[in-house]
Amino acid sequence: MQQSERKMAKIFHPLLLFLLINALHRCQSQLVEPNGFRLKLNRINSHDHPFPDTIRPAVTRSYYLFTIDATIGTPSSIKTFIFDTGSSLIWTQCKPCVRCFKQDYPLFDPKQSSSYQKLPPNHALKSFFKRSSSGDFVFNMSYESGQSASGFAAVESLSFAGSKRGSRESIKGVVFGCTNNYQGQFTGNGLVTGIMGMNRSPLSLVGQMGAKAAPRFSYCLPTLKSAIKSTFLRFGSDVSVKWSFQKTRFISSGFSSDYRVKLVDISVVGRRLNLPRGTFPKGCILDVGSAASTLEMGAYTPVLNAVKQHLDRFNLTRAISDPRTEGDLCYRLKPGFKNYATMTLHFEGAKLEVGADNLFRVIGDRFCLALFGSKHLTLLGAYQQQNVRLVYDVANRKLLFGKEDCSKDKA
Ligand SMILES: *[C@@H]1O[C@H](CO)[C@@H](O)[C@H](O)[C@H]1NC(C)=O
Ligand SMILES: *[C@@H]1O[C@H](CO)[C@@H](O)[C@H](O)[C@H]1NC(C)=O
Repeated sequence: MQQSERKMAKIFHPLLLFLLINALHRCQSQLVEPNGFRLKLNRINSHDHPFPDTIRPAVTRSYYLFTIDATIGTPSSIKTFIFDTGSSLIWTQCKPCVRCFKQDYPLFDPKQSSSYQKLPPNHALKSFFKRSSSGDFVFNMSYESGQSASGFAAVESLSFAGSKRGSRESIKGVVFGCTNNYQGQFTGNGLVTGIMGMNRSPLSLVGQMGAKAAPRFSYCLPTLKSAIKSTFLRFGSDVSVKWSFQKTRFISSGFSSDYRVKLVDISVVGRRLNLPRGTFPKGCILDVGSAASTLEMGAYTPVLNAVKQHLDRFNLTRAISDPRTEGDLCYRLKPGFKNYATMTLHFEGAKLEVGADNLFRVIGDRFCLALFGSKHLTLLGAYQQQNVRLVYDVANRKLLFGKEDCSKDKA
């Protein structure tokens, strides 16, 4: 039994500064995730000892999204990937390219790499791909709003910055997608060459590293205003957990490989909305590959109304907005105004305070609610994760988090 994975990514468009592009609905129609498929991968490290000479790539802000760099191939060349906890496949654009979005780095050329291999027919991850008429393993990730990325499944060496100063850690035999046909708009503005899938799928970077090398990982996203643009993605023993962190467990939903937590209720300015049970049937997805959070309508409408009600008490001037890119609620900035609304997400056994800085964003002379309504999806996007330390304890199926000044996340 196989079923496609569905997910949505809402990505702020880096070109139209401060604007959001249309929601992307990722329906990975041909990237199949078999039911309950669990894999153990042996030794994908290039060392004689188990992997955790931990990698520690920088997580760098690129407008509203975050990227990580990796080198690929032998000889190696650098590529920049969108850091995405909400998808599985690692992919980058490859030569020869039928259709590619613009990227500043040269396309990866499999012919120039001695470590490149098409995915072999006996590979443990082959069932995630379709087979073309010529026998190659192929993929086509398509997006409801029209975009699609397709190409070959392949195996390569990837290397990342290591946790020891100046070190690099190389991982051999990483399965990735060599995209040679991308259709539709891409938001990378030339800075990005692909996506680094980090969800719970065996296909993702975390899945391929395995529970031994990546029992947990952690990051802390600097704010939009912060002078510090890069922090670190940490794995295993490089992750420290404070006793004060909130804890909630990951829940599963059908065939999904997303990191999901149970969302129970939401407060606005300290007042609980008492959302009915069943408002979030599939929980809340942690998706750093989405620029902003979305709430399904049963929660979005009451949140929107409560925020409006709060702000309307302050004689602010409502401003028009483009609902598709800016959201549904904007006001003119007012000098000295401080009574912005706040929101609390009540997870099972934990709560996340979303302060004004993570709830509103400034667009020109307006400030706008940085949340979007969705028919069926609730996800915690990057904007609402700023200045929060998040620890994905994959091995114990728990999310831990706490407030932190991410600009202090130094090597
Ligand atoms: C991938 O799938 C999309 C949507 O189904 C389709 O429009 C596109 O042409 C496909 N790409 C390739 C290369 O087959
Ligand atoms: C409300 O705002 C309007 C225009 O923005 C201003 O003329 C008026 O004096 C304000 N009223 C109060 C009570 O602040």
